[in-house]
Amino acid sequence: MVEISPSILSADFARLGEQIAAVKSGGATMLHIDVMDGRFVPNISVGLPVVQSLRATTDLLLDCHLMTEEPDRYVPGFVEAGANMISVHEEACSHLDRSVNLIRSLGVEAGVVLNPATPVHALDDVLEAVDFVLIMSVNPGFGGQKLLPHTLEKVRRIKRTREDRQLDFRIQIDGGVNLTNLPVVVEAGCDIVVTGSAIFGTDDPRAALKNMRRILDETRLVEV
Ligand code: DX5
Ligand code: ZN
Repeated sequence: MVEISPSILSADFARLGEQIAAVKSGGATMLHIDVMDGRFVPNISVGLPVVQSLRATTDLLLDCHLMTEEPDRYVPGFVEAGANMISVHEEACSHLDRSVNLIRSLGVEAGVVLNPATPVHALDDVLEAVDFVLIMSVNPGFGGQKLLPHTLEKVRRIKRTREDRQLDFRIQIDGGVNLTNLPVVVEAGCDIVVTGSAIFGTDDPRAALKNMRRILDETRLVEV
């Protein structure tokens, strides 16, 4: 089943608890938390205290996307704070295999992220060790950008590699996904779809999430 991971980056932080309850009632099973350090990406967002507070108020899976330099420094803190999934950027890790193993050794799912300009073959030698691969469909740092179409070809390519090598990591996509392009994104082969402004940028996040789930169901019907 394809999952939606609502990105809280576009949420109203003054009403975060309420907005999370809304997406949960709309069928969300996880939340995407964008951690930006103002160095790896040109923006600063949220960190450990937000993850701790979320953990205390929700049982949704917490999917933490670290857009930071030296992510290994922060991984144990995010695990401690209650993350269930942690992804790190290939471009930010000098020793990617070590970073992935660190995450896994702490008992959470490990993901590796590729920026739009990084080719999928950069992951050839780490795929056996990852739980998921996140293909960025925008340049990271901001919500509300337009999906870059060439990144869907990367999704198709990594899916083919997964089949060829009989692996079972999940494929996540992040950036610019909306109600209109969701079917194409899913048909390319994504298992987890991150979406921020298309949910929290609306007046009714619950309805937006439900609409997305309906589109996913229809897309699945077309496939069979
Ligand atoms: C971008 C972030 C995304 C962002 C997605 O750097 O990684 O998770 O919140 O937002 P939308 O769906 O608005 O592109
Ligand atoms: Zn993200």
